[in-house]
Amino acid sequence: MDYQLLFNRYKSQHIGRKQTQQRLLYNCLREAILSGQLLAGAQLMGSRSLAQELKVARNTVLYAYEHLATEGLLQTRGRQTFVQHLAPIKAEAVIAPLNLAPVTLEPVTLRPAASALSPRAQCSQLQPDSSENLIAFMPGVPALAEFPIHVWRRYVERAWRQITYRQLDYGEAAGEPELRAAIAEHLTSTRGVRCSAEQVFITDGTQQSLDLCAHALASAGDCAWIENPGYTGAYQALKAAELNVRGIAVDEQGMAPSAEDWAQHSPKLIYLTPSHQFPLGSVMSVERRMALIESAKARGAIIIEDDYDSEFRRDGSPLPAMQGLVEDAPVVHLGTFSKTLFPALRIGFMVLPKGLVAPITAMMHDLFPRGRSADQLALAEFLRSGQFAIHLRKMRRLYAARRDALVAAIEKHLGDSVTICGGSSGIHITIELPESLVDADISKAAAAKNIAVPALSKLATGPVLRNGLMLGYAQVPEQDMERYILVLAGIIKRAMG
Ligand SMILES: Cc1ncc(COP(=O)(O)O)c(C=O)c1O
Repeated sequence: MDYQLLFNRYKSQHIGRKQTQQRLLYNCLREAILSGQLLAGAQLMGSRSLAQELKVARNTVLYAYEHLATEGLLQTRGRQTFVQHLAPIKAEAVIAPLNLAPVTLEPVTLRPAASALSPRAQCSQLQPDSSENLIAFMPGVPALAEFPIHVWRRYVERAWRQITYRQLDYGEAAGEPELRAAIAEHLTSTRGVRCSAEQVFITDGTQQSLDLCAHALASAGDCAWIENPGYTGAYQALKAAELNVRGIAVDEQGMAPSAEDWAQHSPKLIYLTPSHQFPLGSVMSVERRMALIESAKARGAIIIEDDYDSEFRRDGSPLPAMQGLVEDAPVVHLGTFSKTLFPALRIGFMVLPKGLVAPITAMMHDLFPRGRSADQLALAEFLRSGQFAIHLRKMRRLYAARRDALVAAIEKHLGDSVTICGGSSGIHITIELPESLVDADISKAAAAKNIAVPALSKLATGPVLRNGLMLGYAQVPEQDMERYILVLAGIIKRAMG
């Protein structure tokens, strides 16, 4: 083996990538072993000789040998070093060879086929979605360009300055006490939630909260209700926990279960978006909330209240949360900072009934060790200092203006053809299409024009009951609204003939 040639080729192929000599040599030898250029059983040069040949420090060679041995790629016997015998790996899966010696490796599949996944995991395989990277009208994304990064950075920097060594260890199972207290205070004063800080559990966002609830509060095969149409993320979480998911139709007052639903498909969990039904935008009436709470209590069911975007209510303050309507309501209240701040923060929370605090603490401790104290402490201070409230006020005004511009554009260009639903809260509206149109076709045609308007039929959690589109307006500046709606109107009108 010409080590100098091997090393020089590797270096020339990785010019521009900043790596220490130690790292370069380690990576070079690693690649040579994995691609079969250095064959199993081959003896490597002694560290001193190799260092001389490559004109590097001996420590550089020792570093590379030591790390490769730790990874099980090299073996030392006495003062000699050999390439380990590895299990055969699939030829195309290994790192690109350096064209020195062609090798044929016995093919073995490294990546398991989809069929190897459990039924639970298969239900959450990514559906190819052409609208994935589109911006205009993509629902669920707040106005990222308006987020005060410079302010947030100050809070994060301060949190890191003040962090203690204790906070570098695994965090408390339910999250940092400062953040839990700040959230409890915020929820009590703005959402009418009845809770103490002990009931607040920090999670990596609502998706994780849903996954936890689905696994911890129901058993495989139990019945779980979800609104139809409803939030795909919740549907997937319930399915992934192997629950028997039943889509319950929604009317203008929210989820409307029939007597038959209660009698024949009594649920263990009921997932709801009462403050702003996802996706149709209706607000659940107090009567309906009370009736659901009473029935859930009587049957031992737990309601999961997803309060994902209620902070952006247009007219007056947000309606109080369902959780606080009655003492000891069987409700787990979920919230997220994905809409109020930004999704990549990945911080959400669950407010649990008192009786669930101890068992869920134990479960979180065992299964989901917490960390990222600095982010949590920064957020706690952001809430306590009033910056959160300032940001919300600004966003509320901005979203109201964007919503008005959107509604005006729809009325102007599509007025007779569609019905607008929702809009009193949140950051999206829906439009119902005439029966003669297929929403999925319109959605696909819009995606081809860089407009992301998911079809309501794709959000069906049971029989398809609605034909329409969802439009998120948070990211679209007022002045661009009409331009995009004109494109969408063109597609809809062409489809109508
Ligand atoms: C209904 C609903 N709940 C929750 C979320 C947010 O979840 P997460 O906190 O996991 O970002 C979304 C995001 O789009 C949503 O639409």
